[in-house]
Amino acid sequence: MEIKTDIFLGDSKEILKTIPDNSVDLIITSPPYADQRKNSYGGIKHNEYVNWFLPISEQLLRVLKPTGTFILNIKEKVVNGERSTYVMELIIEMRKQGWLWTEEFIWHKKNSYPGKWPNRFRDSWERLIQFNKNKKFNMYQEEVMVPMGDWAKNRLKNLSDTDKKRDESKVGSGFGKNISNWLTRDKAYPTNVLHLATECNNKKHSAAFPENLPEWFIKLFTKSGDTVLDPFMGSGTTNIVSQRMNRNSIGIEINEDYYNMVEGIINSSKYVLFEQKEKYGNIKETRHTTVR
Ligand SMILES: C[S@@+](CC[C@H](N)C(=O)[O-])C[C@H]1O[C@@H](n2cnc3c(N)ncnc32)[C@H](O)[C@@H]1O
Repeated sequence: MEIKTDIFLGDSKEILKTIPDNSVDLIITSPPYADQRKNSYGGIKHNEYVNWFLPISEQLLRVLKPTGTFILNIKEKVVNGERSTYVMELIIEMRKQGWLWTEEFIWHKKNSYPGKWPNRFRDSWERLIQFNKNKKFNMYQEEVMVPMGDWAKNRLKNLSDTDKKRDESKVGSGFGKNISNWLTRDKAYPTNVLHLATECNNKKHSAAFPENLPEWFIKLFTKSGDTVLDPFMGSGTTNIVSQRMNRNSIGIEINEDYYNMVEGIINSSKYVLFEQKEKYGNIKETRHTTVR
């Protein structure tokens, strides 16, 4: 199977317009945080964040297939002693745009830095918000099953009578459980909390994903040959992992140094099809590399 990795240098808001409708199976991205890291890649003010993001999410909605999923990694910052509400406002505005807010996963950062603040503890988690275009979307749950491990040993040996027979929901929803069904199984479905360490040894980008983060969602929401998009590519983690997992991918990055770095990595393992330079909007020179 021929796998294509397409990376673009430029502003996502403009480059996304060149991607065809309904052509992407999974979007996974971590946009720049509000007001942060101004020196490395320009922060957007927290009170302008929603207006900045909406034209981009409008394009993302257009390029995502009806069966596709969008995972947005984001965390609201603290402004004047309280959490800013821009993430919540963004969810509400994206719903008005046509997105369904299907689920929220938590990324528990197992190795967050120790610290002391007068009115809060160290921040050890980020949101991974799942949006879809439809209630029915592709999801390959078996691909992310986890070993039963100690839970099975401890919980199952003390099964109560209720656990042993089907326990119809007390609220009459028809939802039932039969924990003993799991006795003979060695794998269970995971929860919506991902316990992953940040990759502190990634010196190439200050906010890189750990590789197992995009990997988990790529397994869950795509199959071989599908297309993954990261509109804020950074050090290219999503694209590098996609290439390794036999998924086509598209990455967009505004910072030329990061773009060059990712170009070097993806080219080192694959045949370079072409590189083109063209004029694009107010960015003087937009580069685009495709490798197959
Ligand atoms: C949080 S980082 C993404 C890190 C990435 N997940 C990784 O694993 O390396 C956000 C990236 O978005 C880029 N960026 C900021 N504004 C952009 C825009 N309008 N279009 C494209 N890229 C942008 C920044 O230069 C930065 O590298």
